[in-house]
Amino acid sequence: MSKFYITTPLYYVNDSPHIGHAYTEVAADVLARSERLLGKDVFFLTGTDEHGQKIAAASSSLNLSPKELADRTAARFQKLWEKLNISYDRFLRTTEASHEKLVREVFDKIHQKGDLYLGTYKGSYCISCESYVPSSQLKENLCPDCGRKASFLEEPAYFFRLSKYQEFLLSYIRENPDFIGPKFREKEVTNFIRGGLTDLSITRAGCQWGILIKENFSIYVWFDALLNYLSGINYLSDAKLFERYWPPDVQFIGKDIIRFHDVIWPAILFSLSLPLPGRIFAHGWWVIGGEKISKSKGTVVSPEEIISEFGADSLRYFLLREVPFGLDGEYSSPVFLKRYNSDLANDLGNLLHRSLSLLETSFEGKIPSSCGSSDEKLKEKSLSLPGIIKSIEALKYNEALIKIWEIVGAANKYLDEKSPWRLSQKEAGPVLYNVGETLRLVALFLKPFLPETSKKIAQRLGIAGEFEEQNFREVKWGLLPPGRRIKKGEPIFPRKK
Ligand code: MSP
Repeated sequence: MSKFYITTPLYYVNDSPHIGHAYTEVAADVLARSERLLGKDVFFLTGTDEHGQKIAAASSSLNLSPKELADRTAARFQKLWEKLNISYDRFLRTTEASHEKLVREVFDKIHQKGDLYLGTYKGSYCISCESYVPSSQLKENLCPDCGRKASFLEEPAYFFRLSKYQEFLLSYIRENPDFIGPKFREKEVTNFIRGGLTDLSITRAGCQWGILIKENFSIYVWFDALLNYLSGINYLSDAKLFERYWPPDVQFIGKDIIRFHDVIWPAILFSLSLPLPGRIFAHGWWVIGGEKISKSKGTVVSPEEIISEFGADSLRYFLLREVPFGLDGEYSSPVFLKRYNSDLANDLGNLLHRSLSLLETSFEGKIPSSCGSSDEKLKEKSLSLPGIIKSIEALKYNEALIKIWEIVGAANKYLDEKSPWRLSQKEAGPVLYNVGETLRLVALFLKPFLPETSKKIAQRLGIAGEFEEQNFREVKWGLLPPGRRIKKGEPIFPRKK
């Protein structure tokens, strides 16, 4: 059985989760679920990034200890992921003892290798991005990435010989064209590397909220956090687990953290002589009114509120359907509502509801026999659904959803054209069977995207038990058993105003 190791970034615990965080998480969940349906041995890692100056500052403004704030926020993330049906295998917190131990061990390992030296960091630091800002990039003392005021630091520090890996990185990127995704990001990364890499301070003397090592240095939060991808599968403590999954097949990140993941992270792996991830893919940002989601501007959209009004699957659907993965998207409530009503309430919801209503009124609520149908078109279309697996694996989620909705549209059209309500029982039976079977296949391919909805459709069709076992490995037409009792119920996506 082949393995599939997938990771998300670790979310900072200074603030509560918003739809930007939900986006990364849902995207990873869809791929993890999809690979499981293909029969792979999947390990899906996520978690929270709990150290550093930013979290220390946020906690003190709330009169909490950093650990208290981390406990509180990590629990919020876990609760939200539960609501969103995120199927992670491990939720890692960087304050866990096993992670802290691993970070210290890696520090020693690269030290022994000769990749660390003691020096002094003198320059700017952005607490919000937790990044060292070269003076050439400062704009009037403001961080070029977030626009906030940078602080000046002068402190003793251990430096990682990042500059040593410049050529390794460039040739690795050249030889592995899939390593950086989307493709258009590659140039920005190689230009940055060609501009010259400077050694990186990986300790902070001025921040005590971190993994402490000798002489009262704490580990720089990004060095600590990046190592989660190793400690998440027990590097240096459980060789069996580690060898089973290493290296990651896909790592999801947002476009704001590309340099950390495409430059620093692979350099650390070079230093440790470990194979590099297959693909590091950066998605775009959700913006509101053209601007980055920000608490101070009051543009935070709470995923919990959307879920309580529309359900988890509606949010999952919207995030992945609305914009091509990799590009930025504009979030607004009217756009969300429109997408919900047209695709979920009208197209999918209505197809299910009217089919079930017809079965209820004309077929005593039972799946009719498929005999006598000579309609091959809808069957053929439905059997093209496995084609979406390619789109999912290419991370073209919106393309996959568009293809599924083409089948939903075709089934709605088929129902309109055949008008089974005007046909005899004998003629109407196969028509409704075909639509029911199409709905079963649609639900099957919705399993990774809309896990609750696909289950609901199966329950309504009376096939909840066997549907659980159905996967992407063997896709057949005709598995809906004639005579099975359906459950009409209320529309699964009621129209909203
Ligand atoms: N803690 C670091 C990551 C360390 S990984 C070793 C971090 N955390 S974060 O909470 O700021 O961001 C986590 C993820 O959420 C990032 O991938 C980021 O791009 C994503 N998003 C945060 N805001 C976002 C939007 N508005 N839109 C889309 N994704 C965004 O960075």
